[in-house]
Amino acid sequence: MNLRKLLRPPQPRLPLTGHEPSPVPVPAVDRLRDDDLQQLNSLLKWNCYTVDSRGRRFGDCARAGKRELPQPIPDRRIALFDQACGLTGRSVLEVGCFEGVHTIGLAQAGAQVTAVDARMENVVKTMLRCQFYGVVPDVRRCDLEVQAELESLPDVDLLHHVGVLYHLVDPVRHLQALAPKVRRGLMLDTHVATAETARHMLLSGGRQWRCQRYAEGGVGEVFSGMYDHAAWLVLDDLLQLLVELGFAQTRVHEHRDERNGPRVLIFAERGLPA
Ligand SMILES: C[S@@+](CC[C@H](N)C(=O)[O-])C[C@H]1O[C@@H](n2cnc3c(N)ncnc32)[C@H](O)[C@@H]1O
Repeated sequence: MNLRKLLRPPQPRLPLTGHEPSPVPVPAVDRLRDDDLQQLNSLLKWNCYTVDSRGRRFGDCARAGKRELPQPIPDRRIALFDQACGLTGRSVLEVGCFEGVHTIGLAQAGAQVTAVDARMENVVKTMLRCQFYGVVPDVRRCDLEVQAELESLPDVDLLHHVGVLYHLVDPVRHLQALAPKVRRGLMLDTHVATAETARHMLLSGGRQWRCQRYAEGGVGEVFSGMYDHAAWLVLDDLLQLLVELGFAQTRVHEHRDERNGPRVLIFAERGLPA
């Protein structure tokens, strides 16, 4: 067992009931008896949770301090994505779907969702959570850093890319391979390096990219990338890359200072007529 896992605080026991109820009914969960929902919650090692309209927990927090609060559906960024790009009737590829929370929000906004994750356990949890929320996305296991797996993905109108880029060993190669599959635009939420923290160079596509090398948990850590480190790009370089990949209308919607470093929410569009 690795040291990080040994030092991790034990998972708190969250109550089943007494959470802020979902304002929207979740019929397949709402009608479960408490003991059935308890069993559903303990069948798999859930790492985040949502709440039904009776204020009951579906899933679990990861550990103390990690996804301890319920995950809202929809996530606030999905409304922004909808305003920026229009989700209704559009095909959307969601990368790094984790346990399906954003997947449900996208599907409920009217998108046809293909959701992928490198970890089979996340694929299964996404399928199961979506089933209980009455949405039926196409959920697939795909490691976005394995070229052949990425190439097997369908072409789509829009790309939902939240919380994943900063987990990748080579984000440049990844975006270069993925961009041709995206017809219209994308929402990208990621950590970035600053000129001060970008002390390494990533050699990718025959070019050198300033980057911050960031330690990752690897395969055994469900939130993490698949390798022992990731490369965080400098914001200006990332924006320039998106423009080079054909997203002429690229804008930073928000800058956030988070525990692990600066983070941005980017919208990028090719500028096609609506
Ligand atoms: C920090 S979580 C973010 C989850 C979700 N998008 C969110 O914002 O809540 C990162 C997710 O990306 C997945 N992931 C990491 N590296 C990946 C890769 N190379 N290919 C596909 N999925 C990956 C992880 O398994 C995990 O589900």
